[in-house]
Amino acid sequence: MNQRLDGFEIVLGVTGGIAAYKSAWLCSQLVQAGVGVTVAMTDNACRFVTELTFATLSGRRVYRSLWSDPAAYEANHISLTSRADLIVIAPATANIIAKAAAGICDDLLSTLPAAAQSPILLAPAMNQRMWASPAAQRNIAQLREDGYHIVGPAEGRLACGDVGPGRMAEPEDIFRTIGELLTGQTPKTKRR
Ligand SMILES: Cc1cc2nc3c(=O)[nH]c(=O)nc-3n(C[C@H](O)[C@H](O)[C@H](O)COP(=O)(O)O)c2cc1C
Repeated sequence: MNQRLDGFEIVLGVTGGIAAYKSAWLCSQLVQAGVGVTVAMTDNACRFVTELTFATLSGRRVYRSLWSDPAAYEANHISLTSRADLIVIAPATANIIAKAAAGICDDLLSTLPAAAQSPILLAPAMNQRMWASPAAQRNIAQLREDGYHIVGPAEGRLACGDVGPGRMAEPEDIFRTIGELLTGQTPKTKRR
């Protein structure tokens, strides 16, 4: 966890799973490693954790809507993805996995994979029956084929009390995977 990642820009997408609270720790660790972290949340993610948590930990405003600030309009999905060295979606619900696999863009977060100009790392997290469902397996296979990086899910006790594969990878493992993906890369902020 001591790896420095100075100058890199990461968009951290948070979707509506119970593991969203663990992404707060991931956000904090990335910031402490020198990463500029911009957080995008779905409306359902905000049922689990607050924008304030991520705004405080990242030191930046949190993006939630495509339409948030018409007075100073900027196409957030384009500006966010343009400057990102990596997009990380953690936790990645069955819903965002399905949307990304199908190219559905019906909120800010789901537009990010479609507009990406960087690698994308997903950390799936869901009940083991959802993970084992034909649709989830088909969608993950599609995303792997499309070049997405996937970390986890891990096997163990799930929030609902069931045991099986579906737990979000531990934040330390997500951090390590991020380090591996960025090692040897030059941050966009330092490119001429
Ligand atoms: C208490 C609770 C926990 C949930 N946990 C998960 C989860 O871990 N993974 C998942 O895929 N969906 C989970 N869901 C269902 C999602 O919140 C739901 O599919 C939602 O539409 C996802 O929206 P989003 O992907 O736009 O954030 C949970 C729902 C509830 C009420």
